[in-house]
Amino acid sequence: MTVADLSKIELHLHHEGAAPPAFIRQLAHEKKMDLSGIFREDGSYDFRDFTHFLSVYEAASEVLTGPEEFRRLTLAILEESAANGVVYTESFLSPDFCGGGDMAAWKDYLAAIQEAAEEAETRFGITLRGIVTCVRHFGAETAKKAARCAADTAGDWIVGFGMGGNEGMYEQGDFAWSFDCAREAGLRLTTHAGEFGGPESVRDAVRTLGVERIGHGVRVIEDADLMHELVDRGTVLEVCPGSNVVLGVYPDFASHPIARLRDAGVAVTVSTDDPPFFHTTMRREYEMLNRAFGWDANDFAALNATALAAAFCDDVTRERVQKRLES
Ligand code: ADE
Ligand code: ZN
Repeated sequence: MTVADLSKIELHLHHEGAAPPAFIRQLAHEKKMDLSGIFREDGSYDFRDFTHFLSVYEAASEVLTGPEEFRRLTLAILEESAANGVVYTESFLSPDFCGGGDMAAWKDYLAAIQEAAEEAETRFGITLRGIVTCVRHFGAETAKKAARCAADTAGDWIVGFGMGGNEGMYEQGDFAWSFDCAREAGLRLTTHAGEFGGPESVRDAVRTLGVERIGHGVRVIEDADLMHELVDRGTVLEVCPGSNVVLGVYPDFASHPIARLRDAGVAVTVSTDDPPFFHTTMRREYEMLNRAFGWDANDFAALNATALAAAFCDDVTRERVQKRLES
């Protein structure tokens, strides 16, 4: 047994971004849509840089036209995650891609996703919970629609609210209304920060939006005072090393700051972000961390304990997952 065989918790996974290219091509074929421009000759997604990645991601999402497509996608994602040893995952669900922000449509999409998640739990032994996400570069008014969808469906299954998208556009604080709306509905909060934005973006995220987790957050390594602030606050980073390497935030795993962050006392977890886009899986992330930093089974057990404690699910679910991790 190697470290890659260990059971895993994943907290940062974009639903559309987890769609295998073959799955998207099959749907494009069924719907007679031409998406040939977004694939390389070897069949993988083709993008040059972060903003191009976002536009290829959005183009691929165009074939996900209804609840049935999301039902099929959810089953495919969870089968793949379970095959990689993931026993609990939280995924980002975007009302913008699920009905265009319309409340009734969103509820139909969500019902289909939850139905697939129940089937996957029985068949593959993996538990999914949803984090509704707004897309930063779509702007603050569009984000409000996502937040209203989140607030209206908050509960045992939709457990959080977050924001992804282009960190180069707008400020975290422009989305304060949406995060307040989600918080008042009882949702837990996370936002992407410190991926392409610097430490100031992370500072805004924790101070202005009051999030308890940060998507990526790795560039806090550039600001020792802020790193200590995150330690004091208990802020948890959803670190996606393979994503950062492919998108050019760091040149390779060996230069990635995850080990330095952890050693400074910052709570770090590991996820894949958009696995087929970044040619990664949770197994591969574990293998690469083992190779780059010598992390062993004890390190990964600690990592999973941090992740499970930071999961947004209720405590009954947390205990059930804990038992699965141990078995
Ligand atoms: N949406 C999907 N993946 C993302 C990433 N890595 N950063 C920001 N937004 C995203
Ligand atoms: Zn992400």
